[in-house]
Amino acid sequence: MNILILGGGGREHALAWAVMQNPKCDKLVVAPGNAGIAQIAECAAMDICDGAAVVNFCDINAVDFVIVGPEAPLAAGVADRLREAGFLVFGPSAAAARLEASKSFTKEICDAANAPTAAYARFTDCSAAKAHVRDTGVPIVIKADGLAAGKGVIVAETPDQAEAAIDDMFSGEFGAAGTAVVIEEFMEGEEASFFVLCDGETALPIGTAQDHKRIGEGDTGPNTGGMGAYSPAPVLDDAVAVAALDRIVRPTLAEMARRGTPYQGVLYAGLMIANGQPRLVEYNVRFGDPECQVLMMRLGAQALDLMHAAAEGRLSQMRVNWADDHAITVVMAAQGYPGTYEKGTVIRGLDTCPEDSFNMVFHAGTSERDGRFIATGGRVLNVTARQATLEQARDLAYATIEQIDWPGGQYRGDIGWRALR
Ligand code: AMP
Ligand code: GLY
Repeated sequence: MNILILGGGGREHALAWAVMQNPKCDKLVVAPGNAGIAQIAECAAMDICDGAAVVNFCDINAVDFVIVGPEAPLAAGVADRLREAGFLVFGPSAAAARLEASKSFTKEICDAANAPTAAYARFTDCSAAKAHVRDTGVPIVIKADGLAAGKGVIVAETPDQAEAAIDDMFSGEFGAAGTAVVIEEFMEGEEASFFVLCDGETALPIGTAQDHKRIGEGDTGPNTGGMGAYSPAPVLDDAVAVAALDRIVRPTLAEMARRGTPYQGVLYAGLMIANGQPRLVEYNVRFGDPECQVLMMRLGAQALDLMHAAAEGRLSQMRVNWADDHAITVVMAAQGYPGTYEKGTVIRGLDTCPEDSFNMVFHAGTSERDGRFIATGGRVLNVTARQATLEQARDLAYATIEQIDWPGGQYRGDIGWRALR
């Protein structure tokens, strides 16, 4: 099979790494890729949100299967253009990708599917939104309705914070994403992520994970795209997973199919778990980044067979080969991230890091210049390890970090704390 992966972050490096281990992969191209991906696959420059350009590339290169990494090409309808042109794709249609692209759409689906989630109201008028906050009280959650690169959510502890967030959203800070605002009940509990492959009808869980959104140790400081993750998430045990499948994921898939927009791809359900009961915080229509890195580390080569089966509608015949193992990934980011940070700092020592099925350094924002790796993004490396216990995996990942010589970088020393406490 000739395979094209769209994207160029740590998630796509992990996907490429897993796919390359499967003998069914004859040739792999990643667009645009990064310096780490370039060591294991061919990289191609491409506007991955331009459906016609992606279709053209697939025609010329006889691509058999396309795996879409990030949400932007999905929301832009790239999977639709590929399917119309006869290509096999892993990833939802633009209509189904609204589960991530519109928070109010997801709420509407939850209502129709009777899936447990936070109570909410949607506003297009600033003063009506503020009046709602005054009536409801705090804490309360204010969300820009559209895609805001993970930054359009404010958990307001005081009425002033809530009003300021509403003002910011209606003042255009989030562009078109903020022309409508969703205001939600604050849910108490512990958050965890549930990853389920879907082929329109069948749902097949492929793992659980927990992320570390804040930049600082002890979960302090501003939000980031994620500073580390581990899998499995102890709080999302088998009983919670069954409840999440039966009450949230399967009813969602049934409602999407009923509307004529079946969901195919990976559905990433962000759950809030309290007293053993999950409620939906949000859906994403892609793998999490960095959660994908720990999932791929655990799944290995079978990830390709599973994604291929999802794309072909054969998931009901598939089983996941579970290993009793734990994986962790520690994100190394540029100093200053998530604020302004320097680009072009040199990273040394990567050539001495072990690379095997227990230990991988996935690249996110890197490129190669004159034979040296340089940092080109905010999140730059994902040091990932897999072992029999989470503690061993954590120790292995941090031992690898010791070998990386990057004065321009920073990382959290406490990834995994919640599960290890
Ligand atoms: P989202 O982009 O919807 O995942 O929101 C980002 C983060 O805000 C979530 O991961 C939660 O930590 C928090 N959050 C969002 N909605 C709620 C809610 N209704 N109750 C409590 N926390 C929430
Ligand atoms: N790490 C969170 C996300 O990918 O949305």
